Amino acid sequence: MSERTVALVTGANKGIGYEIAAGLGALGWRVGVGARDERRREAAVAALRADGVDAFGVPLDVTDDASVTAAARLVEEQAGGLDVLVNNAGVTGGMPQQPGGADVATVRAAVEVNVIGVVRVTEAMLPLLRRSASPRIVNMSSGVGSLTRQSASAGEGQTGPLSVAYAPSKSMLNAVTVQYARALADTSILVNAACPGFTATDLNGFRGVRTPQQGAAVAVRLATLPDDGPTGGFFEDAGVVPW
Ligand SMILES: NC(=O)c1ccc[n+]([C@@H]2O[C@H](COP(=O)([O-])OP(=O)(O)OC[C@H]3O[C@@H](n4cnc5c(N)ncnc54)[C@H](OP(=O)(O)O)[C@@H]3O)[C@@H](O)[C@H]2O)c1
Repeated sequence: MSERTVALVTGANKGIGYEIAAGLGALGWRVGVGARDERRREAAVAALRADGVDAFGVPLDVTDDASVTAAARLVEEQAGGLDVLVNNAGVTGGMPQQPGGADVATVRAAVEVNVIGVVRVTEAMLPLLRRSASPRIVNMSSGVGSLTRQSASAGEGQTGPLSVAYAPSKSMLNAVTVQYARALADTSILVNAACPGFTATDLNGFRGVRTPQQGAAVAVRLATLPDDGPTGGFFEDAGVVPW
């Protein structure tokens, strides 16, 4: 293993993922910038390096087995191992997605990236993470995935628009997070889900009210948990998010 902490952030070419990479890089960590588009990836790596981050590009499409396998190999070659995985890449699947008028292709697209993509990347990176002294996995979920908030009354904590694809995909991601935390409970790997809050990015046409830097903060916190930190939890800046 490298002496320096090594992180991989998926979907790090823009938005919250870029700011997570910047935040972890500011700690002096080596940061793999996972991104599927070469031009966008190289631009992000160049911008991070210009800000003093030890960034390296990792070609990564989370929906593609061969891409993810090659990414794990590249991280090992470039950095000698992996300490922290941030599964940040995500899509809405396309809006609107009102139940009663939904297209199953929209549901499939959201689940393919937000759930299956996370499982695919996590499985590929686990052998590297197991060799780290203080490994962490952070899954970028959303408060709209909270069943408590989905089922709350309007004005009493109800979050997000009606969506039969995006919100349920994040609910499943939360369950996936819990399953990995249970399976890894007797290891030093801490696995948690994060909600960045409503953040101005491409994902929502920049309608969010938080900056990407603010949205990244909770993931940076969960990526830097102490060894006795929580696992199998769901957190936002204000604390625990109800399931
Ligand atoms: N913004 C919010 O208000 C908000 C709220 C709650 C949760 N989140 C979550 O936060 C995470 C980051 O979202 P964001 O708001 O920063 O959105 P964003 O600006 O649209 O960024 C999404 C990132 O995911 C990447 N991505 C999408 N599909 C991918 C694939 N198949 N393989 C690899 N990368 C892929 C995108 O790459 P390309 O540039 O190549 O498309 C991009 O880098 C997501 O998981 C999102 O669900 C966001």
